[in-house]
Amino acid sequence: MTATHSLYRRAAASLALLWLAIGALMVLAAGVGAEEPILPIPKQVDVDPAKAALGRDLFHDTILSKDGTVSCASCHDLASGGDDGRRVSVGVDDKPGMVNAPTVFNAAMNFKQFWDGRADTLEDQIDGPVQSPFEMGSVWPEVVAKLYRDDEYRTRFERLYPDGINRKNIKNAIVEFMNSLSTPNSRFDRWLEGDKTALNARELRGYELFKDYGCASCHQGANVGGNMFQVFGVLNDYFKKRGDITEADLGRYAITGNDEDRHAFKVPSLRLAALTAPYLHDGSAATLRDAVDAMFEFQLGREAPDEDKEAIVAFIKTLVGESKELSP
Ligand code: HEC
Ligand code: HEC
Repeated sequence: MTATHSLYRRAAASLALLWLAIGALMVLAAGVGAEEPILPIPKQVDVDPAKAALGRDLFHDTILSKDGTVSCASCHDLASGGDDGRRVSVGVDDKPGMVNAPTVFNAAMNFKQFWDGRADTLEDQIDGPVQSPFEMGSVWPEVVAKLYRDDEYRTRFERLYPDGINRKNIKNAIVEFMNSLSTPNSRFDRWLEGDKTALNARELRGYELFKDYGCASCHQGANVGGNMFQVFGVLNDYFKKRGDITEADLGRYAITGNDEDRHAFKVPSLRLAALTAPYLHDGSAATLRDAVDAMFEFQLGREAPDEDKEAIVAFIKTLVGESKELSP
């Protein structure tokens, strides 16, 4: 009797569990159906404030360059959007580089760094600008020695890092600062979070078009980009049209040597695109509208009415969030 009773109870309990599981699955399915391809930027980032402050000073200090003429901020001006407004960057000895400088805002959210994704982390990325002859032209032992000779830097490093000034700790402080450079609370994020008044009708239509035309299949996630590689010129050969192919145009191919990576680039974040003209890895698109035109021509291989393109531009402008470093 008791045995049957407990058998019933167990059966009833498993039935209840089954219903719970089915219910949960249904909620999940509904959630997935309603999910947007773009996520809000997290409002809080965990950084060590003292290390980030040290990193901020290093970021703005020309001491990192070989002749004291160039800082990270020379090419990544934070107040105006974290880039330099040039077609391609210019480093020490006035040497022009080969590509357009991306913004450093929200770079911490990218799955890889640089247009061709050659650095896996922000730490690895810093070796690039510091040592590149087209950027700061330094060598690490010199940078370490110069900082060591500066009493203030030496004291600050010794206070924050048991092993004082070295390449690893310099990079750590700069990365800590870059981790703080996020731009939450954009109008679009507020809309995502439920404030349906945050966008006007045209901007909202722009977002719908952005999804319908397939822009969001490449520009997606919290950074509206930065989470995959894609060939530039999927549907029309951009490079044939532009001519004069440079090494930088090879994109990811230069790293992997795989044919399918020829002209593949990290899909850039559109978060601050409203502020970071000119556009594309070669800086060839002067305005946001030009970049959107190029996307229609080369990535989608289709025409679109002017008003659709303008609505998409209006939507992209709602992606700009807030940072105390930013004052456009
Ligand atoms: C001379 C101009 C110049 C200087 C100086 C410079 N950068 Fe850059 N930065 C660039 C360019 C150009 C790129 C793109 C290079 C590429 O993708 O091949 C870039 C890329 C980056 C990226 C990758 C962003 C992304 O979305 O892939 C980060 C992060 C970055 N720089 C941070 C820094 C830091 C930190 C410093 C100082 C240590 C610095 N940069 C100094 C021009 C510069
Ligand atoms: C197949 C993937 C793909 C699709 C679809 C796509 N893009 Fe892009 N987008 C890219 C890649 C890759 C780049 C970088 C190309 C380069 O610089 O060489 C880019 C660059 C951009 C840029 C320039 C950003 C910058 O900072 O330089 C904008 C703006 C942009 N896309 C908007 C859009 C819009 C709007 C759509 C839809 C109409 C769209 N994209 C569709 C992959 C895509």
